[in-house]
Amino acid sequence: MQMMESLLNSKLWASPSRSKPKDWKKQDVAMGFIVGILIGLMLMSGTRYIFSAKPSATDAVQEMRQSHIGEATLSTLAKSMDNETIHVLATSNGSPYQNIQTRIMYGSFLKVQSTPLGKQRLKGFTRILHRTQPDNLMDEVPTFQASPLNPKCDEWCEFPVADRPDAVRQWLDHVEEDPTTVKGTWLLMLETDYVFAKVPDLPTKISADGEVLPVSFPFHYIQPTAKHLEPIIREMYTEDLGPVTDIQPTGPAPVLINIQQLTRLILDWVRLTDHIESSPAAKEALGWRPPIVFSLDAPPASILTVQPPNDEALGAAALYHYTWGAIISNAAGEKIWSFDKRDYTAEEHANKPPKLQLLPPFEPGWKLQDGKIVSKELYYILDHEITLMNEVISGLPQLSS
Ligand SMILES: *[C@@H]1O[C@H](CO)[C@@H](O)[C@H](O)[C@H]1NC(C)=O
Repeated sequence: MQMMESLLNSKLWASPSRSKPKDWKKQDVAMGFIVGILIGLMLMSGTRYIFSAKPSATDAVQEMRQSHIGEATLSTLAKSMDNETIHVLATSNGSPYQNIQTRIMYGSFLKVQSTPLGKQRLKGFTRILHRTQPDNLMDEVPTFQASPLNPKCDEWCEFPVADRPDAVRQWLDHVEEDPTTVKGTWLLMLETDYVFAKVPDLPTKISADGEVLPVSFPFHYIQPTAKHLEPIIREMYTEDLGPVTDIQPTGPAPVLINIQQLTRLILDWVRLTDHIESSPAAKEALGWRPPIVFSLDAPPASILTVQPPNDEALGAAALYHYTWGAIISNAAGEKIWSFDKRDYTAEEHANKPPKLQLLPPFEPGWKLQDGKIVSKELYYILDHEITLMNEVISGLPQLSS
C-alpha cells in the first residue's frame, strides 16, 4: 500500500517547536477546506462525489476502496436501521486537553440520551481514538482505537488532526467487519469541545434525486473563496468542476451525515488530506486564519451548534461548541468572569475535571473582551453552557493516570 506508506513517512510532524493547543484551531481551518469541498458537492447534488483532477484511481486507492465498508453491508444497514436515528462519532488523540472535553461531552450526551426523544433517536456514541496506546478513558467512554498515521502524536505533533480522516476510515472498515458497531443511520461527527443541550434535529433538505442531504456548520473564519487561496483550491477542485463558491465554509465537525454518504466521501477525504499535507504551499496557505474577531450579529445558522459568545441564542441548535474563550468585565472595567477551554490542558484536569466558575448574577453594562455588550440572551446561554458542563463534572469519577 504505497499511499499509506507515503502517509506514514510524511515529514509533517518533524517540527520540534511545541505550540499551545490554541494553535490547533489553525489546523481545523485546513481540514475545513477539504470537508467544505466534499460537503459542498454533496449539498449541490446527491451524486457527484469524485471530483479532483488528481488521480483517484491509483492502485492504493482502489485497494483502500475495497478494504472498507461495502455495498452489501450498506444495504443491510439501510434495511435494518431506523432512518431517524443518530450515532455520534468524536475523534481524539487522547491528549489531556481532549480527554477533559471528551468526558464532559459524553456525560452531556448520556443526559440528553436519557430523555424520551433521546432514547428514540440517540442510539450510539463512539470515540475514535487515533493513538498507538489505549488511554485511561477506555472504560468510561465507548472507544474505537485506530492506528495513528503518525505515532508521535501520542505525545505531541504539529498537526494531530491530520490523523482524523484515516481514523474514521479505519472505523468504517471495522463496521464492515462488524455491522452491529453502528447503531444509527445518521452519523454526528464532532470534535471533543461540545456540550449537548438537547437532541439534534434530523436533516430535512432533499437533493434533486431524492436523497436527504447532510448538514454541516458554516464557520465564518473559513473562507474558501479568498483570492489568495485560489491556486491551492484549484489544484483540488479544478475549473471544469465548477466555481470555488461551490465550496462550503465547513469543517469535518459538526457534520450530520448518513453512513452511505460518509462511505462515498471517506477516501477522497483521506486523499485530499494527504494532498494538502504533502504540499508545503497548501499547508502554508490553508494554515492561515484571520485574527480572532467576534461578530455578535451573526445569527445561529445551524441545527447543530452555536458558539457562545459568538452566538447569542441557542435557537434550533442542539449543542454548544465552546471554541471561543469569553472574558467578561463589569461597567467599571474589572474582570468578573472568564472561561477558556485552553486553560484545561493538564493531566490532572482530565483525570478530575475541576468545577467551572459560575457566572455572577446578571448586571447590565458588562462587556466582552472585544468591547461588545453582554446581552441578557448571551448571559443566559453562557450560564446554561457552564451549568450543563458543571452538572456533568460533578458526577465524574477521579481517574488514575
Ligand atoms: C425517513 O424515511 C421516511 C420514509 O421514507 C422519509 O419520509 C423521511 O424523510 C426519512 N427521514 C430522514 C431523516 O431521512
